[in-house]
Amino acid sequence: MTVPAPRLTRRELVAGATATGLLVAVPPAWARGLLAKRPRVGPGAFLDGVASGEPGARAVTFWSRLETERLRSGARLIVARDPGLRRVVATTVVPTGRGVNGTLKARVGALKPGTDYFYAWESGTDVSPIGRTRTAPAPHSAEALSIAYSSCQQYALGHFAAHAHAATVRDLDLYVFLGDYVYESQKAELRADDINAVDLASYRRKYALYRADPGLRELHRVHPVAHIWDDHEVENNYSDGQPAPSAAQRSAAYRAAFEWMPRMAFPSDRHRIYKRLSLGQVADVFLLDERQYRLQADDGQRSMLGEAQMRWLVQGLRASRARWKLIAQQVVVAQDPYGNGKASPDRWDGYPQDRKRLLGELERAGITDVAFLTGDAHVFMASVLASDFEALGEGTARRPAAVEFVGGSVTSRGRELREEEVRAGAPWVRQYDGYRHGYTHLALRPDQLQVEYRASDLRAPDGATSAFERFVQPAGENDFARQVLTV
Ligand SMILES: [Fe+2]
Repeated sequence: MTVPAPRLTRRELVAGATATGLLVAVPPAWARGLLAKRPRVGPGAFLDGVASGEPGARAVTFWSRLETERLRSGARLIVARDPGLRRVVATTVVPTGRGVNGTLKARVGALKPGTDYFYAWESGTDVSPIGRTRTAPAPHSAEALSIAYSSCQQYALGHFAAHAHAATVRDLDLYVFLGDYVYESQKAELRADDINAVDLASYRRKYALYRADPGLRELHRVHPVAHIWDDHEVENNYSDGQPAPSAAQRSAAYRAAFEWMPRMAFPSDRHRIYKRLSLGQVADVFLLDERQYRLQADDGQRSMLGEAQMRWLVQGLRASRARWKLIAQQVVVAQDPYGNGKASPDRWDGYPQDRKRLLGELERAGITDVAFLTGDAHVFMASVLASDFEALGEGTARRPAAVEFVGGSVTSRGRELREEEVRAGAPWVRQYDGYRHGYTHLALRPDQLQVEYRASDLRAPDGATSAFERFVQPAGENDFARQVLTV
């Protein structure tokens, strides 16, 4: 593991905790008055681990949860430069309470770019495990990046061995989770999940259950994470224009997702999750929301992103000075991705005008080095993309507009098709595997993107993980070379 997990005694922590230069923002609670304005440290236990996320060059968001009987309470966050928490750079008391399910969240600023930090939480009666995080590189930095991502972890279908492995990767700059972090329904197969989440209390219980998985807990402890939701954080395919679920149910699901993730809310737009993370000159990560703003109007108008998000994305891509523009998003972009001629309305195939507009924008503006990082499909699939897919395929000289790496599911079941079959119907698909589960690792340099698909044995918490595909993409080409690592 990257960081040993000693639990310090309370006295050791307090002795080291002298605050220096520090800027802290605490997110507004869901409803006013839920949290104390001048919080005090109260009793309680840290039973749900620690987490960090949304790394900026100077700031990181820190998370934990205090199990307490009190209506309002607080806990102290301690941030340091070393794993022993001796070189403390920040301490602050963060409010919590029943109104936010005991969750603790603070964004600490005035940190150094591209630097590892270590942190712990302290209550009146307990000390959390010590976490590790990392700030983003400085805006001018061309240093190489290491990013991993995955999606779709249905608890009942297996152990999160992929996360246990990703937690051992040293010096990861960011881990991105592309949706279906929880599955709302109950199910029992390899493991039992008896929670049918439909309201705030049951969504909260769902997150607590998932976070008890040792692999997921360790991943959050050692790497900064960004999460975007897909459908199952609320309900399967809920954005299909059908009546269910209610606005109240959606709101409860979104609220639990905000409470349990190291994510800050936009003060004036509390459900917004789409945003950009800048990682120096090497990469910008655009985090999208492809559920909340879907439009399927009676007059036939359809939109995947909604107008505001689409404009934000196009402008952001045009303005980006980073080499790699990574679009972290939920559903498959490639046309007819299984090569069977069946267009599913749930993925980008159901929104061909939006897709043409976005990919056409890249072509017209000459924006290169865009890679879509995709979840939802529960398969590993690498494709090239263009506003006109028929112009792509084997043997054509045309340069693709962008590439797509569907990054596999942690546990959820895929579509078990043969690669030849898929590629015969969809020649822009360059690789397909519907059997394996795991995660994807990206090694990014200014001159090259290297993508590695890694498969994990989900039958045990520490099931083995090994790389089985590698793609190397030189800057400027919008295309990649494939290297099969295992058969
Ligand atoms: Fe899924």
